[in-house]
Amino acid sequence: MKAIILAGGTGSRLRPITHTGPKQLIPVANKPVLEYAIEDLKNVEIREIGIVLGNSGCDEIQNLIGNGEEYGVDITYILQGNPLGLAHAVGCARDFVDGEDFVMYLGDNILKTGICDLVESFRNNTYGAGIAIQKVENPHRFGIVEVDSDGNIIELIEKPSDPATNLALIGIYVFSPVVFDAIDRLEPSSRGELEITDAIQYILDDGYKIDTHIVTGWWKDTGKPEDILEANRLILDDKNLEINGHIEDGAETYGRIELADSSIIEGGAVVRGPVSIAKHTTIKAGAYVGPYTSIGPNSVLRNTHIENSVVIGDSTITASGRIVDSLIGRHTNIKSSTNHLPEGRRLIVGERSHLKL
Ligand code: TTP
Repeated sequence: MKAIILAGGTGSRLRPITHTGPKQLIPVANKPVLEYAIEDLKNVEIREIGIVLGNSGCDEIQNLIGNGEEYGVDITYILQGNPLGLAHAVGCARDFVDGEDFVMYLGDNILKTGICDLVESFRNNTYGAGIAIQKVENPHRFGIVEVDSDGNIIELIEKPSDPATNLALIGIYVFSPVVFDAIDRLEPSSRGELEITDAIQYILDDGYKIDTHIVTGWWKDTGKPEDILEANRLILDDKNLEINGHIEDGAETYGRIELADSSIIEGGAVVRGPVSIAKHTTIKAGAYVGPYTSIGPNSVLRNTHIENSVVIGDSTITASGRIVDSLIGRHTNIKSSTNHLPEGRRLIVGERSHLKL
């Protein structure tokens, strides 16, 4: 069995962060989202992985993941170009898949429990497709599955305006090569995309069995800033956090903290976990890093209070006051104004930023 990870797309809901890098590389608890997918695939003994790339972010992804050797997998890159839909992205991987069964993993998704159950069940039976589903609160935003009383799928509908159930398809699928026959027959949906739900509907209509798995552990699609923060909270709650860096005398630390080697919590700083601090970062006197915060590498925090936030890295934050619920891009400098007149907030903000003042 092979796998493809979809890492194209537009990432419009994560702008301006995605103006300068792909969303699949945004770190959650200081690990890029894409690496969680690679680990899940490796855990089910899948070594041959194709990463589908869009028009932007290709170099960053290839520079980080390379040929996969560092992760113990073998990576092939597949160019999709324009984001014409999930089924279109799968279609681009036809040559790579080369007649085998394969897992399709959305590169911006994270799953607590991994994908063992879904993949094992598919391997031990004959299915056209296997899908992971979960009850959601806002089904009109997802691909929805209608099932009968025995759990057999009756119909799949992409983002229905009047959803019949709250069972949503989540970002992990397993396919036999029959999916390519279905993709060949697809027409673009009303939003102009080739929909994977339509392809699965064709597989069902063609008489193939579809395996369904209800995922009980948490699942996160990290498409929006608040999703990144929530995924960060969930991972920090679950992860084994270790201190390898240096905590100076006079620093106050509470709860579970991950401190990478070469990072320092200086005297006079306060860190209250769960918190993750990456390499070459210094938390200086007067700084407070509160629960559910991840601070990326090569950063300095002084005199600032920050909590429930993700600082991607290479940043300096010395502003007094509290920063909460924030996603802060790379190479950012946040400092207090030294000019008190006129009173007010001085902002230099990129296109499509979201600020709450
Ligand atoms: P989405 O989050 O559905 O789409 P998007 O990345 O375009 O985001 P937005 O709606 O904010 O503009 O995509 C889910 C995953 O699938 C994500 O990792 C990107 C990937 N993808 C592709 O690789 N090709 C595609 O054509 C699409 C639509 C998505």
